Amino acid sequence: MEKKILFSGLTSTGRLTLGNYIGSLNKLLNLQAEKNNEIVIFVANLHALTIPLKREQLIRNVKENLKLYLAIGIDPKITKIYLQSQIKEVNELFYILSTLTTMGQLQRMTQYKDKAKKEANSTFKIPTGILLYPILMAADIILFNPDFVIVGDDQKQHLEFTRDLILRLNNNYDTDIKLVKPKIASIEEGSRIMALKNPTQKMSKSDHNKDNTIFLLDDIKEARRKILGALTDSEDKIYYNLSKKPGISNLLVIYSAIKNIPLSFAEKEFKNLNDYRKFKEIVADTVCDLLTKIQKNYHNLDDDKLQKNLDYNLKYLKNRANKNLDQIKNKIGLLF
Ligand code: TYM
Repeated sequence: MEKKILFSGLTSTGRLTLGNYIGSLNKLLNLQAEKNNEIVIFVANLHALTIPLKREQLIRNVKENLKLYLAIGIDPKITKIYLQSQIKEVNELFYILSTLTTMGQLQRMTQYKDKAKKEANSTFKIPTGILLYPILMAADIILFNPDFVIVGDDQKQHLEFTRDLILRLNNNYDTDIKLVKPKIASIEEGSRIMALKNPTQKMSKSDHNKDNTIFLLDDIKEARRKILGALTDSEDKIYYNLSKKPGISNLLVIYSAIKNIPLSFAEKEFKNLNDYRKFKEIVADTVCDLLTKIQKNYHNLDDDKLQKNLDYNLKYLKNRANKNLDQIKNKIGLLF
């Protein structure tokens, strides 16, 4: 049976969070262990330009993200890794796809609308890159023609947009791009980890309140303090109920995802505890154990090793991207 191609990526706008880990990295690790798929992942440094970053900061983020891929257990001999700016074909495909997209479609995307709201409706101030972001993301995906994309819940709309573009490309130009499927875990499995102090809002790299977010490279004591300070309720009963108990539900999801056990097992484990302080300490231990392990691996990686890992599959991936792009260009009439 032909191997399925699985694809995933993350943007190098900042430090990676526990949300990134549970929503996508941990899922990639499980898929890598199955060994029956071809997995391609990347760090999106072109996407990162939508937020102003100094040269040194961008490079630091990229290196940190790449090292973290390795430190969590991604094996470049099994999972192919690249850096977005290394494969230039994506830019040409990006332009081609932009001709199949309308302004209205882009302006209706949640990420753009949120940004527009924050900028007090002054679209003049929003970088065009934010509007075009979904097209570049579609280009990332279509360039490798994967079967599945592994992401968290917040990327659902971008995947729908990509599927729409694939249909349009296939219809207009008779291309043969696979209609990629999102592989998004359920909320119970961690596809949407929430902010610790505000558990009705997503945990995010860019949250101004750092107590909302666990970063994978957080000082261990800091991480423990953040978990112990997570907002809960006053019932002192531990069970999953998103609307009634968003804080406790979030901690239960975090615990079960790291332990790799179903949520119902975690609920059973804590059914008779009736002590939030103890519960938080157990969750904090679990998170801190994970962070300690990741950080130990992280600090053992130097830049030389990183470069070697980055070069490992680059030629193969460049060839693949080039071949796929040429096939599309041929169908369109840009090559003959
Ligand atoms: P990014 O960098 O925002 O996030 C990386 C991955 O982490 C997931 N994630 C979460 N999952 C659960 N709970 C959370 N609180 C949480 N926060 C983030 C995201 O869903 C994502 O899977 N646009 C993408 C990067 C990208 C990409 C692609 C991904 C660019 N092109 C092509 C896949 C395919 C992004 O900004 O992810």
